[in-house]
Amino acid sequence: MSNFWPEALSRRRLLMAGSAALTMPLFAAQRAVADGGKGIVTLKPAPGLAPIMGSGQAETSVLVYNGMVSGPVLRLAQGKPFQANVINGLDEGTTVHWHGIRLPNAMDGVPGLTQASIKPGGSFHYAFTPPDAGTYWYHPHDHTARQMGRGMAGALIVEEPEPPGFDRDMLWVLQDWELLSDNQIVDGFDNEMEGMMAGRIGTTVTINGTIPTPVSIRAGERIRLRLINACLARFMALRFAGHRVVVMALDGQPVVQPFEPDGGITVIAPAQRVDLLLEATGEPGSKYPITDEFYGNDESYKLVDLAYSESSKLTISTKPIILRLNPVPKPDLTNPVRHQLTIVGGGMSGMGMGGMMGGMMADGNSATPQIWAIKGPDGLNQGMAPILTLPLGRTAVITLINQTKWWHPMHLHGYSFHVLSRNGDAEQYPHIRDTVILRPKDTVEIAFVADNPGDWMFHCHVVEHQDFGLMTVIRVA
Ligand code: C2O
Ligand code: CU
Ligand code: CU
Repeated sequence: MSNFWPEALSRRRLLMAGSAALTMPLFAAQRAVADGGKGIVTLKPAPGLAPIMGSGQAETSVLVYNGMVSGPVLRLAQGKPFQANVINGLDEGTTVHWHGIRLPNAMDGVPGLTQASIKPGGSFHYAFTPPDAGTYWYHPHDHTARQMGRGMAGALIVEEPEPPGFDRDMLWVLQDWELLSDNQIVDGFDNEMEGMMAGRIGTTVTINGTIPTPVSIRAGERIRLRLINACLARFMALRFAGHRVVVMALDGQPVVQPFEPDGGITVIAPAQRVDLLLEATGEPGSKYPITDEFYGNDESYKLVDLAYSESSKLTISTKPIILRLNPVPKPDLTNPVRHQLTIVGGGMSGMGMGGMMGGMMADGNSATPQIWAIKGPDGLNQGMAPILTLPLGRTAVITLINQTKWWHPMHLHGYSFHVLSRNGDAEQYPHIRDTVILRPKDTVEIAFVADNPGDWMFHCHVVEHQDFGLMTVIRVA
């Protein structure tokens, strides 16, 4: 049916999600971290074991926050100070990046840019006040492919001062894993082969850290379904059989006008979040599959079933559900600074593999063989040197051009940006994101008020692309 991914690029995959007959209780309960009322949480990344394939199956050796995959759900209050003490229990450096939060640069968690990596046994104290309510997440920004790929990712929910009126709040942290038959993770993260192609797309998809079992649902309820794509590289295109879903928020930011996604399919790239309104309009006692169709027919699979309880229908409430817009400054498009950034490189580009671009770098990184780069006003960049400087307080309009044959979810730290247009057409539903998809050959215009000073990473969130050069820094000063 819908084929987002060119057949030529697809690798045949045997997907296990949803196909394993499991008899475990409904769902790993979502574990929120209590902060003892002081607003300070402790996060301890360390090696651990997790029942990824379900109870009774061999546990997987993972890297975890506070012993859990996915990490503990952090619930913050909009506009209220938050603090986290991170104690590194790994045998290598790490940091925590609070993806999507507009926070001070020093709290952004990028080693070598905003802080030093937290050494094994060391700790770092993060403190910020989230200005925006919504669905965010946290993950390491050092050795990202391996640490995130082995499990380190968690949800960060910023709650609205007033509950918006859903009957239920449901959170799905989506991760995928490349597992051997003994349920252990295939090693060799960050290899050049995955780096030049689509990145590591795992064969097992989990929800909140375990292989999905049917999700129980009651006819008539109105659910806020928070989706977080915490995969290294997997895009998803979710179809909800028998249900109409409405997009309420993208990357944490409520949309001005809620809308039904094109063809009923919710596309979610690595690092993106979508908050859906899911109205339980199905029949009591029935099951409805949710399928992921991103990689085309051959590789479509059932993510999970919605399983209606036998109890009779509630009447769907007609009370409006309203997510208030966050205080993201509105770009002044009358007089913006304009820049153009072009993504180049990758497999099948004709530029060849790593090394080909060495020596051409504007940022002095030419020693590392790189596969991808971003072309800015002064040439190719792929490291921590700023590609451009934006004047503090001005509106910036940045035109992003993808000259590669691959999809890239491009992410800017420290900001939420307005997506203005795609290939010359204004976006049908105005929206604000922190990670925007660039399909092959796409040109996308984004705009934001450069009001948050500092050096901010701008990179592809297919982590292997980032690691092989698809990253740079935008300075606001
Ligand atoms: Cu999810 Cu550089 O970030
Ligand atoms: Cu980020
Ligand atoms: Cu990419």
